[in-house]
Amino acid sequence: MSGHATPIPMTSSRADALSGVAEVPGDKSISHRSLILGAMAVGETRITGLLEGEDVLDTAKAMRAFGADVIDHGGGEWSVHGVGVGGFAEPDQVIDCGNSGTGVRLIMGAMATSPITATFTGDASLNKRPMARVTDPLALFGARAVGRAEGRLPMTIVGAAEPIPVRYEVPVPSAQVKSAVLLAGLNAPGQTVVIEQEATRDHTERMLQGFGADIVVEETGEGRVITLTGQPELRPQAIAVPRDPSSAAFPVCAALIVPGSDILVPGIGLNPTRAGLFATLREMGADLTYENERTEGGEPVADLRARYSPEMQGIEVPPSRAASMIDEYPILSVVAAFANGQTMMRGVRELRVKESDRIAAMADGLRANGVSVEDGPDWWAVTGSGASGVPGGAICASHLDHRIAMSFMVLGMATESPVSVDDGAPIATSFPIFEPLMAALGARIIRT
Ligand code: S3P
Repeated sequence: MSGHATPIPMTSSRADALSGVAEVPGDKSISHRSLILGAMAVGETRITGLLEGEDVLDTAKAMRAFGADVIDHGGGEWSVHGVGVGGFAEPDQVIDCGNSGTGVRLIMGAMATSPITATFTGDASLNKRPMARVTDPLALFGARAVGRAEGRLPMTIVGAAEPIPVRYEVPVPSAQVKSAVLLAGLNAPGQTVVIEQEATRDHTERMLQGFGADIVVEETGEGRVITLTGQPELRPQAIAVPRDPSSAAFPVCAALIVPGSDILVPGIGLNPTRAGLFATLREMGADLTYENERTEGGEPVADLRARYSPEMQGIEVPPSRAASMIDEYPILSVVAAFANGQTMMRGVRELRVKESDRIAAMADGLRANGVSVEDGPDWWAVTGSGASGVPGGAICASHLDHRIAMSFMVLGMATESPVSVDDGAPIATSFPIFEPLMAALGARIIRT
């Protein structure tokens, strides 16, 4: 089993005004999909701007284990020589997806309709997370799964030798489940239909279109209906991965709460299924503007300018926006601690099954640092202190969760006393340059 053998405790102290340009790495969701779809195409897919975080590197390794030729040319340039839909080889070792729910769930989908068997594992965080949400629909195609109690990893998937296409309504708002079903549908003859009630990130649909699959998306009274025709020959692509809005969230939110800050975060993907945090911050009164809006590689992109915003107000975040900012609630809760009044976040049960229980992890750490937090099964509320400030001073548990660790490091940039985390090592899963990038803006984070 993989894991972060050596914890890296970190401490973040009050920063002077943050300034400069923050070039955050490539989008994690798009990076995983580039490698997986590249491996399922026939010929060479070229990728630039790939996120070289541990999660994505684990997916690259996995694609090699399934027979694709994945080459790192340096500087974020990669190529994948794919084996074609239905062409995966049977891996001769256990596939270790590390910390990555996206990696393991998408790869399970991609292999589940080929006549091969693969065993998956991950780190202590991933091996606690629910997989039945993916293996249930994969069973409808004819795949079998044997794992630990309650559908936990390690788990073996026996792919369907004669897959049948499915019609599946995703029971929870999850792009990972939707994508697993679509990737499985690629090697099933006929039409696979996936229905989602709430629009989740649509990178898989966009990318499948780019690779030449016959995929139709309709907004209907029944929900968002995605129809994929199976067994296409996917054409290799040149993919420029936009920079990750979920990573941009950390320097942006830091600038909003550190007095005097003014930063630019260029080239950020603003796909509407991902940009909910930025809409929410603007509603709170954040001085956050989009400059130079454009389209790159089929995704909307802009440069974000974020300035210190002392007058932000707590708001009720619309539950309908949850899917478009699901990974950003931890860092939003940090901003909310500095706003005036309460920020209420409802309809967020999914936060309890991420890399950690993110409501519990943030609520515990924020309370320890003097912030007032209430929570229930699918909601939480943070009452901000406005001008009176946040005490800080506590050591928080990161629970093997990169976004929890980074959120507390941002908190410490604006609290009266420094904030620490017991382990910042998981930051490398999604944002390996977080420490130097934040330091260049003026943050004071040290390994303790
Ligand atoms: C992701 C989907 C989301 C998100 C995760 C990335 C993806 O997970 O939290 O970080 O790339 O499809 P869920 O599908 O569990 O909502």
